Amino acid sequence: MSNDRQPIGVIGTGYVGLVTAAGFAHLGSDVYCIDIDADKIARLQAGEIPIYEPGLAEMVAENRERLHFSTNIAEALEHARLLFVAVGTPPTYSGDADLSAVHSVVDAIPASDRHALVMKSTVPAGTGASIKRVLKTEGKEGLSYVSCPEFLKEGSAVKDFLNPDRVVIGDDGDWAGDAVVELYAPLDAALVRTDIASAEMVKLASNAFLATKISFINEIANVCEETGSDVIEVARGMGLDDRIGQKFLQAGIGFGGSCFPKDVNALKQLAGNSGYHFQLLNAVIEVNELQKRRVISKLQKHLGSLVGRTVTLLGLAFKPNTDDMREASSLVLSARLQADGAKVRVFDPIAEEEARHLIRGVHFATDAMDAIEGADAVVLVTEWDEFITLDWAQVAERMAGTLVLDGRNALDREAVAAAGLTYEGIGRGTLTSLR
Ligand code: UDX
Repeated sequence: MSNDRQPIGVIGTGYVGLVTAAGFAHLGSDVYCIDIDADKIARLQAGEIPIYEPGLAEMVAENRERLHFSTNIAEALEHARLLFVAVGTPPTYSGDADLSAVHSVVDAIPASDRHALVMKSTVPAGTGASIKRVLKTEGKEGLSYVSCPEFLKEGSAVKDFLNPDRVVIGDDGDWAGDAVVELYAPLDAALVRTDIASAEMVKLASNAFLATKISFINEIANVCEETGSDVIEVARGMGLDDRIGQKFLQAGIGFGGSCFPKDVNALKQLAGNSGYHFQLLNAVIEVNELQKRRVISKLQKHLGSLVGRTVTLLGLAFKPNTDDMREASSLVLSARLQADGAKVRVFDPIAEEEARHLIRGVHFATDAMDAIEGADAVVLVTEWDEFITLDWAQVAERMAGTLVLDGRNALDREAVAAAGLTYEGIGRGTLTSLR
């Protein structure tokens, strides 16, 4: 890789920050990573990666000499002109995005006409304009501002960084926008260069649209259960229409993660704050909540009362290949099941440590088979590969009951049924249609 690439600063070493830092280091930049969490920085300096993300540890290790970790923002300011901001913007009680971490970064940057803030954190449309107002009142208007939203998906973040569908850069047409364009040039991705407010909205609207697609197919799945149709066939037929596409039409027990729930809410609040009632998003959110809870009524349909019943949750993370538990369906499920009197056994190959902070009263099993032991029902919550390839005859022997509830429509239902188990998916038609 060439060594004439410009150095950059990355403030915040969470998912987005670390992947961005490792990615640009891989492309040849020296990257100054800053975080206020001294513990995290010490771990990173020692070569430890605090999150589970396929390929990230390797990419960090390969580019170790170009990655510099510090708690001192001055180090980034000294070496780099572009300061990527990748701090958390979690939802507040009101559903608006909490921008306090973003504002702390803005406060920490001194007046300068040779630096730019490049916003990677997901922020409401209008944030760039309001930050620029703040900069002006503080006499720091020399700082440039670029919106460069991140679209990476957890579990494939490294791949997504290297092969983005598009790079969106919103700026004032000054040196900073040009510099960010140049940084991304080696990736040869479609470029959307636009104004700051539009770039901010691309991110929120994209996530809200994808979440809408999921809630839509989940509602279709629920109707399929009434009509005896199979949502997998329906989605396949729909998706072959180019205008619809196959992706994000997998029915299941709801979306989770750090982005969809937060961003859908943030867009709804943003619209509401400006006087527009975004009706569709209310439904998207409500459908998602109900979808998680439908698991309970499905279990009751087969088992009757759940009091004293043993239910196994296979998978806890909000999706496979991550240890992220944010807004995971397992959080609602484990709590609802216990409230209904069930004994809950759980297993996740990676997310257990995270989950232990969040889920109480359940038995954390040592592996999938241990989790299944004595279960009246097994619910597939996260479609990790190792659950898809389970030996169902062995599962049948270990279970006390026979119900397998496939919350991600990921299992081979013929194989499950062949082992003498009762398969129920999401929108997979009536059980009788299987026999
Ligand atoms: C998402 C966006 O895809 C990404 O562009 C953005 O930057 C951050 O938010 P992520 O949260 O990592 O990424 O995961 P994603 O793979 O998009 O899945 C989100 C949730 O939707 C998961 O809970 C997943 O199980 C669910 N999902 C996804 C479905 O239920 N059905 C689908 O068809 C697709």
